[in-house]
Amino acid sequence: LKTPLIAPSILSADFARMGEEVEAVVRDGADWLHLDVMDGHFVPNMTFGPGMIAALRKHTDKPFDVHLMIEPADAFIDAFAKAGADHIHVHIEENPHVHRTLQHIRSLGKKAGIAICPGTPPEALSYILDLVDIILVMTVNPGFGGQKFLESQVPKIRTLRQMADATGRDIRIGVDGGIDVHTARQATEAGADMMVAGTSIYGQPDYAKAISALRDAGRT
Ligand code: DX5
Ligand code: ZN
Repeated sequence: LKTPLIAPSILSADFARMGEEVEAVVRDGADWLHLDVMDGHFVPNMTFGPGMIAALRKHTDKPFDVHLMIEPADAFIDAFAKAGADHIHVHIEENPHVHRTLQHIRSLGKKAGIAICPGTPPEALSYILDLVDIILVMTVNPGFGGQKFLESQVPKIRTLRQMADATGRDIRIGVDGGIDVHTARQATEAGADMMVAGTSIYGQPDYAKAISALRDAGRT
C-alpha cells in the first residue's frame, strides 16, 4: 500500500494564532507544512511573505513547502530560502524564464517545485523536468481556499506521472485545491503522492482525525 504525504495549508488556519496552528497540525500528523504566498497580482488575493515564514520556522522542524503565487518570483527566491523554506514552488505560467528560476532554487540547496494551473497543459513541463523535484498540480484556480476540486485535472495528473517516471528521477507529484476524503483517492490513483489540504484539515474541529482520514482516503 502506498501512503501519500499530507501537507496542511495554513491558508485556512487562524492567522492570529499561526504559531499554535502550525504546532497543532505537526502534533496531529502533518508531514509537511504548505505555505501559500500570494501577491494580489499573479493571483487575486494576498497572504504573507518571508517574514511570516521566518517567524513560523521557530515552531517546527517539518519541511516548509512554500508555494509562490507571485510575479516576479525570481527576485524573492533568496529571501524565501533565507526565511527557512525547504521546497520552493514557482508557477510555470509566471515568467518565460522559469528554467533559470528553477536552477536558482537548486543552487541554494532547496528542493525545486513547479506549480501548474488548471488551464496549462502538462506538456508545458516537458523541458524543465530535469530541474524539478516536485510537481504541484493545481486542482483549483489558485488564489483561494475552499474551492471545488476540478475533476478535469485528473488526466493531467496521470500524464505528469508518466512524464515524471520517464525521467528516471524521483519526482514527487502534489495536488493542491479541493482535496478532501471524497476527492483524495482520484488524485492518488492518478499518481499523486502528496496532498495539500486547507479547508479539509483546518476547517475541521479535530485536526488529527482529519489528517488520518485524508491519509487513509488517499492510500492506493
Ligand atoms: C490555493 C492554494 C491552496 C489552498 C487550498 O490557491 O494554493 O494551497 O490553501 O485550499 P483548499 O484545500 O481549501 O482547497
Ligand atoms: Zn498552495
